[in-house]
Order: sequence, then structure tokens, then C-alpha cells
Amino acid sequence: MPFNLDFEPYRIKVVEWINITTRDERLRLIEDAHYNVFYLKSKDIIIDLLTDSGTGALSDVQVGHMAMGDESYAGARSWDRFYESARRYTTKEHIIPVHQGRGAERLIAEALLKEGDVVVSNTLFDTTMGNFQYKGVHFMNLPDPSDYNFRGNIDLQKLEEVLRREAERVKLIVMTITNNSGGGQPVSLKNLKAVRELADKYGVLLMIDACRVSENSFFVKHRDPDYRDRSILEIVNETLSMADLITFSAKKDGLNNIGGFIATDDEQLALKLKTLGVLFEGFPTYGGMAGRDMEAIAVGLMESTREDYLAHRTGQVRFLNDLLDDMGIPVLKPAGGHAVYILVDQLLPHIPPEEFPGQSLVVALYVFGGVRGVEIGKLMFPDAQHNMVRLAIPRRTYTESHLRYVAETFEEIKEKADCIRGMRITYEPEYLRHFLAHLKPLDDWVKRCSG
Ligand code: F0G
Repeated sequence: MPFNLDFEPYRIKVVEWINITTRDERLRLIEDAHYNVFYLKSKDIIIDLLTDSGTGALSDVQVGHMAMGDESYAGARSWDRFYESARRYTTKEHIIPVHQGRGAERLIAEALLKEGDVVVSNTLFDTTMGNFQYKGVHFMNLPDPSDYNFRGNIDLQKLEEVLRREAERVKLIVMTITNNSGGGQPVSLKNLKAVRELADKYGVLLMIDACRVSENSFFVKHRDPDYRDRSILEIVNETLSMADLITFSAKKDGLNNIGGFIATDDEQLALKLKTLGVLFEGFPTYGGMAGRDMEAIAVGLMESTREDYLAHRTGQVRFLNDLLDDMGIPVLKPAGGHAVYILVDQLLPHIPPEEFPGQSLVVALYVFGGVRGVEIGKLMFPDAQHNMVRLAIPRRTYTESHLRYVAETFEEIKEKADCIRGMRITYEPEYLRHFLAHLKPLDDWVKRCSG
């Protein structure tokens, strides 16, 4: 390993102050937020691990390029730079810009899918699932976590069974890379190549949801000996060359706060997507992004392929995972690329799934330590088999001592685990209920346990 994982490969030039709330304040704030951390204000959070999406720090090179943002409606210089960088990253000829990942998902759903179609995936991210369900599309998640090094893979046998059985109805295979809802775990290139072969055999399109493909490529380089001597960009290119179409949220490995694109070599599909894009996103040389954002992404895509950056980034996630593991907190192993996943069913086994143990942990983390994580379990996916809490680490944002503070908060969680009780929903919206749901604790445990 040529890089020291404990060493940030950057210096800090601008800082953002953290407001330290008290426990009494947090008890009131979480009640006002209906026990749903999506309603909290960021100023009331000490360490925010809600998401790694759009929350990272920009580099001085990105900020410098942003000053050159060309904000023209059509034909901006910033578009040319964005296009060249996205093309270099994806190897695809046609790039359709969108305001963020779900914009890309919506355009694809509109262009390619209709009611009754089936989409098969290693695991769809929740907005992808939501956009497809909105069109009346059925989906099947077929994860195969049996390879410890590549627990994000899809189950090839089940995939082929589905393709054979439902050849008429399956319109799309989606590989989410890394597999976010499955624990930020990487997908191997062997698995992906086999999926490509099945897609060809059954004549189905292969889409890659590629927003964390730089992180995935780092794992491929270090876990698959065939790729040890390849650069990250080469691995990114090889990964993405296997897709018929790519959706990309630039809020992750684009290293920007907003933005995204679709990439494909299919000219007819690109034309259709551009037409829909004009309707829903913006003209095809900005797609809902400001020129300065396209500049930042053009730089960010290439920065995300730096090996020193990726070694530190994945090293930070592993650092927190190991700290918690050593304390006896059940975590998903091995550590994923962007987040630590707490196995709540093991940590709080006395809370039944229908009482949302993951949400109880999220509430306790906030009240005890001002730490914001997110539930990935029964609240987010009513059919979920497991309850997890995700602690997503924003890129280039927190230091080792921040992560140690998070681990300290877990000391108290561990001590008081028996005191923590369940939650119930008092309001739920029709789609993606976890974002806007209102909840209440089943008794006064939040107050009782925080004393
Ligand atoms: N695909 C994956 C795998 C994602 O993780 C996300 C977003 C999207 C698509 C949608 O992109 O937010 O730009 O519209 N994930 C964030 C998260 C929100 O917290 O994991 P978007």
C-alpha cells in the first residue's frame, strides 16, 4: 500500500463552525422534529452523518474553476469542460446533464419503462426504486453477499432464472455500484462481466448506477489481483464500458454539492433523453446545473480517481467501523466505501421490527451525542428483512477526532441499550415515507434513558 491511510492527503483552507447543542436542547429539538431527523436543522447537529451526498468539501482547484463558470443557457464553455470530463470518466459518447441522480432516474423511467415492466437489480437505491414504482414498474432485488470481498454483487443464478422466466417483462438490469442499500459494498468486475453476458444473451439493457464507482474501483484494485497494476481511472473506464446506460449523481464521486448526468453510446436513446431533459431538467448543455457546478464536477470527477484520496476516504470508513467493532457494537463487515452500517437487530434485539429499532437508535444517537445517522430498515423499506442504521461519512469533511467522538456516543448507547424502546408512526406520506414521516416513542424512554 503506497499511501498511509491515517494521513489526510489535503490541508484545510476554509472551516465551518460546529454549534454544540446541549442534551436538554436536543430532547426538545427531536420532539419538535417528530422524532424524524430529516426535520432537524443542520445547525442543531454536532456530527452530521445523514448522508455523504452533496455534503463534502470542495478543493481549491474546484473553487478556482467555479469562478470561470459560464452561465449561458446554451453552448456554455463550462458544458464543454463538463462533457469532456464525463466522457473521459465514462468512455460514453453521449452525456445528458441532470440536476442530480434522481433526475436521471426519472428521465430513464419516462424513456424506457411502462406499467407492468420488471427491473432487476443487485439492490436499487430508494429514489431509483421510487421513480420506477411511480411508473408502475415492478422491481426485484437479488443481492449476493456471499463473496466477502465483493458483497455488493448480484446473484447470477437467480438473475438468469428471472431472465428466463420473465424474458418479456424484464426491461432493465440495474447494477448499483457500490451497492448503497446493501451496505456500500463493492461489486466485482467478474460479477459485472457475467451480468453483461446475461444481458446480451437475453437482450436486456444493462444500466449502472455509478455514483460511487471511483470508490468501487479502489476496492477492485486492492481486492482483485488482476487489477492491482491498473490505475483507478482505467478501472472506472472498464467498469462503465460494460453498461448500455449510466446514471450518475455528481453529489457523491463527482465531489460536488449538486449535479449529475446520464451517459450512453446509444444515439437514439440519447436523443429521446435529451428531449425529455428539456422538459424536466433543462437545456442539454446544462440540465438544471449552474455553469459553476459543471466546472466543479469536471474537476471533481478526476479528483475522485486519485488513489491517495480514495485510500484515505475508504480508510476513514474502515477506521470508524473498526472502532465500533472493537467496542462490541455490531457493524457490517467488511467496511463499505462510504458509510458504516450498524446491525440494529443485534444491538437492540429486544425491540421488534414493527417498532422500528433502527429509528430508535437514530433518535438515541442524536439525543445522546448530537450525531445524525439514518435508518435503513423497516421505516425506509416496509418489506426490509434487516434493520440497519447508516453513518455516512461526507467526503473530505471530518477528521479522526470527529469519528472518535461518534464512537464515544456509542459507548453510552451500549451502556443504555436495554433502556431504549421502540417507536410508532403517527403520519406517513404515500412515497418514500421515511423522509417526511412523523413518529413518537412508545413511552417516555427517550427522556428516561438520556438522564
Ligand atoms: N443512486 C444511489 C446509489 C444513491 O446513493 C443516490 C443518492 C441516488 C442514486 C440518487 O441521487 O441524491 O443525486 O438524486 N443517495 C443519497 C444517499 C441521497 O444518502 O445515499 P441524488
